[in-house]
Amino acid sequence: MKYAIIGSGKIGSALARIFARKGIEVAVANSRGPETLASLTKELGATILPKDIETALQAEIIFLAVPFAAHKDVAERLKQWNGNIIIDMTNAFGVAPDELGDLLSSEVISRAFPGARLVKAFNHLPAAQLGTNPFVEGQRQAVFVSSNDADASATVAAVANQLGFAPVELGSLDQGGVPLHVQGGHRGGLLFQNLVKLG
Ligand SMILES: NC(=O)c1ccc[n+]([C@@H]2O[C@H](COP(=O)([O-])OP(=O)(O)OC[C@H]3O[C@@H](n4cnc5c(N)ncnc54)[C@H](OP(=O)(O)O)[C@@H]3O)[C@@H](O)[C@H]2O)c1
Repeated sequence: MKYAIIGSGKIGSALARIFARKGIEVAVANSRGPETLASLTKELGATILPKDIETALQAEIIFLAVPFAAHKDVAERLKQWNGNIIIDMTNAFGVAPDELGDLLSSEVISRAFPGARLVKAFNHLPAAQLGTNPFVEGQRQAVFVSSNDADASATVAAVANQLGFAPVELGSLDQGGVPLHVQGGHRGGLLFQNLVKLG
């Protein structure tokens, strides 16, 4: 299994819709179990594979679409992470700055998944806008990608491309990736920026 989405709420199901549109198989899991995903699979079809969390976490590339606080619970489900790519789609709105210390929220999440490779991406737009280009027909919506692992960043950029987006690689989390984060309750400069690539 190559792809999994953990979380089937607003942003997780928006992403599942994008996978379904492209006909790419993706496992989807939530906290309540695969049987609660029946309406999503009915709507989106056979490429959406409802799974329990432990099974979904076997995927090579895992989209983390749960509230920030839930990342610990997800991370504890597996004893070992063997280079899996975790795509952190969370935004730390409402998270007390003390909880993060001096770290970016994605750095906190990265520490919770030792052995995995963390990439921050697909978090900058509200669910209703992700995968839509309401104003500019025929152009590709930008998706920002940041990671301390250059290979993982390139892999996620290729996935974004395959899903129909224009990836923009920003480099490491604590440099180019900073504007993709909520810090001290303030949203970074790239959050809610709906940009398109011309041509
Ligand atoms: N909504 C947006 O427009 C948007 C945009 C960009 C980024 N984000 C970020 O994406 C994340 C999810 O936001 P959302 O709006 O999609 O939230 P949501 O609608 O409340 O959905 C959250 C999903 O996470 C699942 N979940 C919660 N705890 C879990 C756990 N311990 N294990 C497995 N699954 C768990 C829930 O499972 P159940 O369905 O079983 O309850 C639900 O499917 C947040 O961090 C948010 O900041 C949201």
